[in-house]
Amino acid sequence: MGMESKYIWMDGKLVEFEKATVHVLTPALHYGAAVFEGIRSYKTDGKGAAIFRLVDHAERLIDSAKIFGFRDLKTTANDVVEGCVEVVKANGFGDSYIRPLLFLSGGAWDLNVDHGTASLAIAAWNWDNYLGEESLAKGIRANISTFTRHHVNVNMTKAKISGNYANSFLAKTESVRLGFDEAILLDPQGYVAECTGENLFVIRNGTLCTPATAPVLEGITRSSIFEIATDLGLEVKEQPISRDQLYIADEVFVCGTAAECIGLSEIDFRKIGDGRTGPITRSIQKIFHNAIRAKDPRYEKWCYFVV
Ligand SMILES: Cc1ncc(COP(=O)(O)O)c(C=O)c1O
Repeated sequence: MGMESKYIWMDGKLVEFEKATVHVLTPALHYGAAVFEGIRSYKTDGKGAAIFRLVDHAERLIDSAKIFGFRDLKTTANDVVEGCVEVVKANGFGDSYIRPLLFLSGGAWDLNVDHGTASLAIAAWNWDNYLGEESLAKGIRANISTFTRHHVNVNMTKAKISGNYANSFLAKTESVRLGFDEAILLDPQGYVAECTGENLFVIRNGTLCTPATAPVLEGITRSSIFEIATDLGLEVKEQPISRDQLYIADEVFVCGTAAECIGLSEIDFRKIGDGRTGPITRSIQKIFHNAIRAKDPRYEKWCYFVV
């Protein structure tokens, strides 16, 4: 993936890509003491680039910072919104991935957030590798990870804290080495939690079920899918999901900013449905793909146009 761009936004200024560097003794690098967001912008027909649910992402970044313990932050959600817009604009991007990172850039070697300095960087890079109709229809293969998802009182599950993602690295690396595309993690009670970077939905007899948000990230794609499915007249429930409920589901799909909405064709060597992305997932995918490119007036409220 080419991550180059002309500019990266660092603490209020656009900096040339090569100059957007930090020292090796940056505490965030050692302890994962940072919070981040993953956001996408999309090319639209005639309306420029649209950043998907930008304000929601900016607010979640500030919430993550609060959860991690940052106090008296000078950065506001509005600063994050403006920074993201500036980066996309300055780089002339249409389809891009935007990565704001609020990190401990100095101090705090005693592991006390109050003794550190916070910095904000916002990078973006071109992201036009649309998976294509075939992969959307084919779905991906997953397994239940041997690694458990965070306990809610060990790592804070509502925050995108960089250090939390060691758990995702462990699970994803193991699953891919085993020949799968993605890992499904169970929570400490043994119920389905989420994937390494996606929330998960199960469909059975026309009803969508997804784990409640306590042990998982409150995904912004998840909430968009909730609304789309409800508008389609489908029932959507938040409830505990057991491993075997995945096996006997008619359809299972995962969703997140990076993955968008992808069906699971197989879990633990058990075919899901007929082993291809199911019909309900396909209709949700279709509406979602129109929504992100501002092609559906019902969901244009989710598009933040870069003008
Ligand atoms: C662990 C985890 N769960 C779920 C998601 C999906 O969240 P969103 O739809 O906001 O990208 C992500 C991605 O941010 C994630 O990292």
